[in-house]
Amino acid sequence: MTLTIVGSQLGDEGKGALVDRWGGDADVVVRYQGGDNAGHTVVEGGAEYKLSLVPSGAVRGTVGILGNGCVVNPRTLFTEIDDLRERGLDPDVRVARRAHVIMPYHRVLDGIEEEVKADDDAGDEVGTTGRGIGPTYEDKAGRRGIRVADLLDPDALREKLEYAVPQKRALVEDVYGLDIDDVDDRAEAFDVDALHEEFAAIGERLADEGMTVNCSDYLHRRHAAGDEILFEGAQGTHIDVDHGNYPFVTSSNPTAGGAAVGSGLGVTKVGDGEVVGIVKAYLSRVGEGPLPTELDGDADEEALADEIREKGGEFGTVTGRPRRIGWLDLPMLRHAARVSGFTGVAVNHVDVLAGLDELKVCTGYELDGETLDTVPTTTDRWERCEPVYETLDTWEPFDSAAVAEAGYDALPGAAREYLEFVAAEIDTPVYAVGVGPDREETVELTNPFEE
Ligand code: GDP
Ligand code: IMO
Ligand code: MG
Repeated sequence: MTLTIVGSQLGDEGKGALVDRWGGDADVVVRYQGGDNAGHTVVEGGAEYKLSLVPSGAVRGTVGILGNGCVVNPRTLFTEIDDLRERGLDPDVRVARRAHVIMPYHRVLDGIEEEVKADDDAGDEVGTTGRGIGPTYEDKAGRRGIRVADLLDPDALREKLEYAVPQKRALVEDVYGLDIDDVDDRAEAFDVDALHEEFAAIGERLADEGMTVNCSDYLHRRHAAGDEILFEGAQGTHIDVDHGNYPFVTSSNPTAGGAAVGSGLGVTKVGDGEVVGIVKAYLSRVGEGPLPTELDGDADEEALADEIREKGGEFGTVTGRPRRIGWLDLPMLRHAARVSGFTGVAVNHVDVLAGLDELKVCTGYELDGETLDTVPTTTDRWERCEPVYETLDTWEPFDSAAVAEAGYDALPGAAREYLEFVAAEIDTPVYAVGVGPDREETVELTNPFEE
């Protein structure tokens, strides 16, 4: 069967922790979208691993696949694999030959576009991770992308570079009016010969290490053989390019439909399995865009946000940026549950909310005299939504390890009420509750692989 893990909010919900938790029952872990904009954390017995491209099953030694829907920066992939090897792991990662490659010029262009948007004072910069994600997906849709398969064929690679690179140069020089040779790493990023040399060598390494696959064919065979396949979504529903708050989104589909498209395993196979939404018990957002329940209204709210940020370690895994903080927003979760068809949710960071003076949950929005129970389609309307709050009882700090071991009933009563309230509001059962970052600090109610 399959299990698809999807971020329900704005990324960083603790997907890595649940992929690791349930990854012990999986035979293959597949990333189906995104690239090294992701930062997934796995904590095992106090040892912390931050994974950007290597699927989180690596900590358990499970084979990891980067599906055709991913954009792969081979430089970061190899650095990450080498770093993990130094730490004693032996990641077995295969990359779809249909996946697109993030080239150095994509990263440069990502940076330039953000700078230009920041300078024009229109407030339209996205606050990207700067990893070249958007420009690479643009080239994929524009049919001028370079795929992993092209790295294996030096002639094809040269042909593609000779087509793409002059266009990128023209973009920088003629559209943005910048001089490429002024900036150190930019010159090499737009030099066909230098790029060809580096990326043909990368192709050789991929071939030598047997790292490339026909992803659809591979997964079809594993599935047919009865193997358990875990899809590891990156990012989150509200930064999905179709279902998120456009344009403050990433350029791929983290929602569950992306698992079929981004891997080539048929939609009936993916849909036949479990789809678990990962929920953070409050909201965090790194990057720009609205956040109706953001705790930034006055000094008291800002102090509360600081408290949650510190307790929850809410600083970006990839960029180190402090994450913005807000109350849990149920309209956002309803949208997420509908778009991906959640069969269950895992609610993380329940320990972080312990000991607060007050606890609120947004149950709906007021907008232009109407009450909404889900997220409006335009970001402009979402930004104008006034949250309707329900105040719930708070709970005291508890011993996470002891609670995780004893099970759900050992959670403080108010925490259970909170979880049951959320489950009822979004009409989706709670499969697991995160009470700390470590693999053992999860209260499991249902193991989706046993459903
Ligand atoms: P991901 O991108 O969804 O995998 O999430 P990140 O790894 O970027 O961010 C989640 C952070 O919260 C990481 O530091 C995790 O170790 C940590 N974490 C995950 N679950 C819990 C939890 O239940 N409680 C606490 N306190 N931390 C958690
Ligand atoms: P994980 O998988 C949180 C955000 C960026 C920015 C927007 C677009 O760790 O949950 P991009 O570089 O993708 O073009 O940036 O998306 N973003 C994330 N926010 N978690 C992530 O990944 C993110 N990946 C991208 O901050 O707002
Ligand atoms: Mg993350």
